[in-house]
Amino acid sequence: MTQVNIGLRVNGKKVNETIESRQSLADFLRETLLLTGTHLGCEHGVCGACTVWINGAPSRSCITLAASCDDAEVISIEGFKDDPQMEKLRSAFISEHALQCGYCTPGMLITAYDIVHRLPDADDNRLRLELAGNLCRCTGYKGIVCALRRVLGPPSENG
Ligand code: FES
Ligand code: FES
Repeated sequence: MTQVNIGLRVNGKKVNETIESRQSLADFLRETLLLTGTHLGCEHGVCGACTVWINGAPSRSCITLAASCDDAEVISIEGFKDDPQMEKLRSAFISEHALQCGYCTPGMLITAYDIVHRLPDADDNRLRLELAGNLCRCTGYKGIVCALRRVLGPPSENG
């Protein structure tokens, strides 16, 4: 079993660890750092439950090797605790009943966070397209789209 040393920032804190070279970032976050807000569903890059923020973009942590994150800036759902935009999204998810069991919610919120920054003029069809990589088995997406709409406001004419 090959071990490697990695140094990265996780939720704003410097982390240095010796890990197994094949460990996924999801397992590193959950088992080594005990950041269990990152959920695991399919574990092969399909469901989006494990989505975290890596160097400014949403990424699937189940198919990302922790070793490849040497020097990276990683933010898991716990790291967005004091972010005002994420607070708006959390409140909107609650108000619009955008979750039931909540299993998909950490990954869904991180994808939603990316959407509101990247596509402020998105219409509902575009929102649904952007959410297609995050599977939710409970809500049917209506509430999730409404939550995003609540944060973004009405779509623009050119949306
Ligand atoms: S657990 Fe990573 S995409 Fe499903
Ligand atoms: S709220 Fe249950 S899977 Fe999305």
